[in-house]
Amino acid sequence: MAGNRTFTMIKPDAVSAGHTGAIIKMIEEAGFRIVAMKKTQLSRERAGQFYAIHKERPFFNDLCSYMSSGPIVPMILEKDNAVEDFRKLIGATDPQKAAPGTIRNLFAKSIEANAIHGSDSDANAEIEGNFFFSRTEQY
Ligand code: RTP
Ligand code: MG
Repeated sequence: MAGNRTFTMIKPDAVSAGHTGAIIKMIEEAGFRIVAMKKTQLSRERAGQFYAIHKERPFFNDLCSYMSSGPIVPMILEKDNAVEDFRKLIGATDPQKAAPGTIRNLFAKSIEANAIHGSDSDANAEIEGNFFFSRTEQY
């Protein structure tokens, strides 16, 4: 059965471009409830831990530099079928391939600086949410 929570973060390119509010508005209007949210910045080391699954990929070093380059806005979100519905809302990794009206279509700058993250499974949503938020920060 699909779970009802996912994890997201607005990435440094979108935060520095001033798109935080517009993106949160789209998320809420799509029916997601914000369970936890903050503004923070990853160290290079923590960015590497978060994306450890990609450590053998050629883009890993660039990804760690980019993800630690400025503030991000991580959130835990709640909605029926959260993981799948949120991946639809953000669109494909490459903004050139992201469907019209998706967050990446509207706000991403490149395949790397692609505005927003979305968990790819219920299990990863749980792990990633706990990476940023303690139980007492989740409402
Ligand atoms: P995310 O995990 O951030 O939601 O993105 P995703 O599932 O759509 O894509 P994934 O394959 O998990 O890649 C993670 C992030 O790495 C950067 N990337 N750069 N230069 C490249 O070819 C490349 N490919 C991926 C992107 O920031 C991507 O979101
Ligand atoms: Mg991914």
